[in-house]
Amino acid sequence: MKIKTSLILSATTAFALSACGGAPAEPKGAISEERTAAFKSMMPEFMSMGKMVKGEETYVTDTFKANAVKFAESSKKPFEHFQSDPQGNGDALPVIWEDEAKFKAEEEKFHAAVAKLNEAAQGGNLETVKAAYGEVGASCKSCHDVYRKPK
Ligand code: HEC
Repeated sequence: MKIKTSLILSATTAFALSACGGAPAEPKGAISEERTAAFKSMMPEFMSMGKMVKGEETYVTDTFKANAVKFAESSKKPFEHFQSDPQGNGDALPVIWEDEAKFKAEEEKFHAAVAKLNEAAQGGNLETVKAAYGEVGASCKSCHDVYRKPK
C-alpha cells in the first residue's frame, strides 16, 4: 500500500514538472481560466493608453477618453472570478484566500486608481493623465508582487 502511494505521487510530480518545462506549475481550473481571460481582455485599452502616455503614439484626447471609460468597466471583470478554484488556481497565490480582507483592500486600491485615471482622462490634461496612469500601473505591480506567482 505504501509503495503504491509513492508511485502515484511520483507520477503526479513528473506530470506537473513536464507540463511546464521543469518548474512545478499549479494547474489552472475553469475559474482561474476565466479570471485570466478577463485580465487579458482589459489589456488592449490599457496598452493603448500606455502608448499615448509614453509618447509612442500621439495623445488623442477622445480616443484616450473612450479607452479610459472602457477600461474602468473591463478592469472590474477579473474580480468577479476570485473564488479559490478547487481544480487549481493557476498563478493566483494561496495568500489571496488566507487573508481575504487584505486582498480586498488591494483590489479596492486598484479600482480607486482606475476611477482616478478615468476622471483625469475626461479632464484631458496630459500631465494629470500621466500621473494617474502611473498610479494604476503601480497598483498592478503592487498586487502582482504579492498575489501572483512571479514570472
Ligand atoms: C488585486 C490584485 C491584482 C491587480 C490589481 C491586478 N492583477 Fe493582474 N493578476 C492578478 C492575479 C492573482 C493573476 C493570476 C490569475 C490566475 O492565474 O488565476 C493576474 C493575472 C494577470 C494577467 C493574466 C496573464 C498573466 O500574465 O498572468 C494579466 C495580463 C494581468 N494580470 C494584468 C494586469 C494589469 C495590466 C493590471 C493593472 C492594470 C493588473 N493585472 C492588476 C492580480 C492582480
